[in-house]
Amino acid sequence: MPEAELRAATAAPRLTAERLSLGYGARAVVSDLAIAVPTGLMTVIVGPNACGKSTLLRALARLLPPTAGTVQLDGRDLSSYGGKELARELALLPQSPTAPDGMTVADLVARGRYPHQSLLRQWSSRDQEAVDAAMTAADVTALAERPVRELSGGQRQRVWLAMALAQDTDVLLLDEPTTYLDISHQVEVLELARRLRKGGRTVVAVLHELNLAFRYADHLVVMRDGAVVATGDPRTVVTAELVEEVYDLPCRVITDPLSGTPLVLPLAGTGEAR
Ligand SMILES: Nc1ncnc2c1ncn2[C@@H]1O[C@H](COP(=O)(O)OP(=O)(O)OP(=O)(O)O)[C@@H](O)[C@H]1O
Ligand SMILES: [Mg+2]
Repeated sequence: MPEAELRAATAAPRLTAERLSLGYGARAVVSDLAIAVPTGLMTVIVGPNACGKSTLLRALARLLPPTAGTVQLDGRDLSSYGGKELARELALLPQSPTAPDGMTVADLVARGRYPHQSLLRQWSSRDQEAVDAAMTAADVTALAERPVRELSGGQRQRVWLAMALAQDTDVLLLDEPTTYLDISHQVEVLELARRLRKGGRTVVAVLHELNLAFRYADHLVVMRDGAVVATGDPRTVVTAELVEEVYDLPCRVITDPLSGTPLVLPLAGTGEAR
């Protein structure tokens, strides 16, 4: 059994949600959802726009309180954690973060170290090492002195990723970490996520690029209309029927000749389009 699967089979999920309902004011987005994030693996959440992926991720990071149900980390309700205590365990890369005006890349990434500081423990060489390593991993070292607001969409996204990495947590929640990136940077970020999980981290990423998602996911969560409709190994979960049902997209699913994972080919634009 591959090392990653072995770990999944033996480790209890650290992050779980049960009977979870989420919404904004009168708008209910998620109701009665259950999820168990396998420890030490890469979980990928996919689903159409507005189905509730970011809403779920925010609840898993305690940015959005549940209207019903619970989210637990290590068997403890998230609400019982202190702010910094939780931020040392779990980091969230939000979908569309905005940096304060004039803030430089180096300053923003350094903010990731905030949960590790206190009145007694100020900036240390350990903090600087974490920031340097995160900037190298996200390939933003050359941008250190640039104002975040002046960067391209892809550069900015990698800077925010660096900030989440600098937080140095065991659990990383990444909301569309590859969306603005060109294909080589997409692959780089996914390779980075894979390295993190090989090092024992638990990674949850929302992705729209299905074929890459299926390559990199150890555990796939498919959402539609605020509900989880399928979970498991992408190789067993993904079928043309599922993709068509979830995305309303006529397609064929073949096996990726390089990775053995599912490859979705939309029928639109071909002679097979219905
Ligand atoms: N702050 C908010 N206030 C009110 N409604 C919101 C808020 N954020 C999201 N929603 C609504 O909740 C629903 C789910 O949104 P969410 O952002 O979770 O979708 P998503 O699956 O992440 O979509 P996308 O793929 O476009 O990022 C949508 O109908 C959206 O309009
Ligand atoms: Mg979203």
